[in-house]
Amino acid sequence: MKNVLKWIGIVLGTLIGIILIVGVTMFALGTARMNKTYDFPPSNIELPTDQASLEFGKHRVETLCAGCHGADLSGIEKWFNAGPLGTIDSANLTSGEGGFGREAQSTEDYVRAIRHGIDPEGKSLFMPAVTSTSHLSDEDLGAIIAYLKTIPPVDHTTNGKNFKPLALILYTAGVIAPLPVEVVSHETHVSAPERTASVEYGEYLVNTNDCHVCHGPDLAGGPFPDPTITKISPNLTPGGELAGWTEEQFINTIRTGVTPGGHNLDPEFMPWKDYRLFYDEELQAIWLYLQSLPKLPQWTK
Ligand code: HEC
Ligand code: HEC
Repeated sequence: MKNVLKWIGIVLGTLIGIILIVGVTMFALGTARMNKTYDFPPSNIELPTDQASLEFGKHRVETLCAGCHGADLSGIEKWFNAGPLGTIDSANLTSGEGGFGREAQSTEDYVRAIRHGIDPEGKSLFMPAVTSTSHLSDEDLGAIIAYLKTIPPVDHTTNGKNFKPLALILYTAGVIAPLPVEVVSHETHVSAPERTASVEYGEYLVNTNDCHVCHGPDLAGGPFPDPTITKISPNLTPGGELAGWTEEQFINTIRTGVTPGGHNLDPEFMPWKDYRLFYDEELQAIWLYLQSLPKLPQWTK
């Protein structure tokens, strides 16, 4: 009996030892991957100074960035709070104390963050939206950066990403999605279709405004990007509910958050309060693009 217990002890002890070694190794690998530095060729984007471009930059920031960076763009603490995995604050984009506008040395520092997903030192950022913002054209990016340089400074020091060891282990294991810098295309120059109500411009708007992040790669619906939320995003192709809508009903849904069927879209999950600021022609373009998609069944787990 004593011998059996001794052997059980040895086996258990060895197992715990192996688990610890594997855990520590995965943690170390995750940390090294997280701290890796990157460099990309400069974009040499020139910042516009005319009023129309600044106005367009403001419009882009209000529809795309403010939802995560706050109405005054001073950053949101614990923007992502996943208990045992850690927390992430979104950045203060102003030139106040603790703001990116004070830290950034050049236009390229902005481009590195928004197009490539890295900080001024070249280290990876955890800003999932980079999968969308990396598609912004040189012209749009220039307008956005020019506008950001005019916003009022707000003093607010945020803490960026604070991953706990478990998050780094799961990251190495591939359970947590790769960082944006590891997946986006890193083009040096990006152009956009003309700003009109066309299918092409609609596709550009959908690609740059996070629709794919929630509604899936083919827009047939998908899991919520935050793994702690079980909500599933609906199908936006003509295979879903939108098949029976008119353009006017689509625009009205985004403007009011109420679907033609009377369903209230929860702004916690579907950021229609940001998207309701889209110009008519932008919503028309998005509608035309969604209508042009192949008819697909709703994505399920
Ligand atoms: C889905 C949410 C989300 C959206 C949308 C978003 N951001 Fe961010 N952003 C974040 C988070 C979170 C961080 C902090 C990332 C980190 O510290 O790793 C961040 C960080 C940044 C940084 C800081 C880089 C640094 O080195 O500290 C800049 C600049 C930035 N965002 C600009 C923008 C701009 C401009 C837009 C709109 C075009 C935008 N972001 C849209 C969530 C978002
Ligand atoms: C952060 C996740 C997220 C993003 C980003 C997002 N959506 Fe949604 N969307 C949802 C969820 C979740 C719902 C369902 C909301 C509910 O039922 O309360 C939804 C609902 C909708 C609906 C109603 C569909 C129906 O069948 O009732 C439309 C239309 C829509 N989204 C369009 C868009 C477009 C266009 C974009 C990009 C400009 C976009 N969404 C970006 C999560 C998102």
